[in-house]
Amino acid sequence: ENEISFLTEIPKCEHHLHIEGTLEPKLLFELAEKNNINLPLNFPATHEELAASYNNFSNLQDFLDVYYIGCNVLINEDDFYQLTLEYLTKVSKQGLKHTEIFFDPQSHTSRNLSIDLVFNGIKKACDEIFVEFGITTKIIMCLLRHCSIDDCSATLDLAEHLIKDGKIHGLGLDSSEKPFPPELFEQVYLKAKQLNPELRLTAHAGEEGDSSYITNALNKLNVERIDHGVRSIEDPKVIERLANEKIMLSVCPLSNVVLRVVQDVSQLPIKKFLDANVPFSINSDDPAYFGGYILDNYLEVQRRFKLTKKDWAFIATNAILGSWCDEDRKTELL
Ligand code: HPA
Ligand code: ZN
Repeated sequence: ENEISFLTEIPKCEHHLHIEGTLEPKLLFELAEKNNINLPLNFPATHEELAASYNNFSNLQDFLDVYYIGCNVLINEDDFYQLTLEYLTKVSKQGLKHTEIFFDPQSHTSRNLSIDLVFNGIKKACDEIFVEFGITTKIIMCLLRHCSIDDCSATLDLAEHLIKDGKIHGLGLDSSEKPFPPELFEQVYLKAKQLNPELRLTAHAGEEGDSSYITNALNKLNVERIDHGVRSIEDPKVIERLANEKIMLSVCPLSNVVLRVVQDVSQLPIKKFLDANVPFSINSDDPAYFGGYILDNYLEVQRRFKLTKKDWAFIATNAILGSWCDEDRKTELL
């Protein structure tokens, strides 16, 4: 009881949240019907069956196959608005203060939607939620690493105006990690940074890929933080570097269990990160698919690790310090 209210009250920042991964089964079916989208023949027939099928992913790719089908039901600006508003409304009750939202332009531009339509829908919900709850947001575009370099580069061109004026605040890299190591995207990251030197950089690394993916994301892509990164624990040198250079990992506990990165949350190196002074935040990744939003992830970590208030203060402080919000917002949250 006390623990739940303690963890609810902690000011939380989320740094690893794919907006397409907040598409709840119910909304997926509603939008499919509204937009006349035919789901694949072997797709579950009801939202209950769909939700039940999420227990059976055996790896990242298994999940991504379903996630990309879900993306296809999002057509209108209002669909992206509704999706984002539902996510933000939920987490407004979970002590969330600041969130950095990923979106995958290529999942939508490949279906001939404009990047502005997608961005504007997401942004409209963010602006409304700021007015209503004071939650701050930043929007980060992710490139899909299973797409060609040319396609990724062309996607940067489509986003150029949004990157140049800082509306898109950061660049990330997601989708199938192996066999697409970070160094393949060196030129693309360079090009993005040239569009706007203030663009922040991150990449998924060390979820399924080994710790060399983390090192190469840092060395070749010049990222400032690492999404997932839990396989850093396999290399003491990488752990030392993350601690020394204060590179934050955006850890996603429930995601790691559902996608079988670990068997259960107790196997995550949370205590080792704390002992080694590695900054990390706790995030939900794709909450509609992985069984919980940000607070559920905090609660599961606590259930498994019984952390002290001091540990939680370390986690909460690092999540604020690692955020890409404005400096005065940081001060406000600290
Ligand atoms: N990993 C890689 N790609 C993704 C993920 C993830 O956890 N979620 C959505 N796209
Ligand atoms: Zn992710």
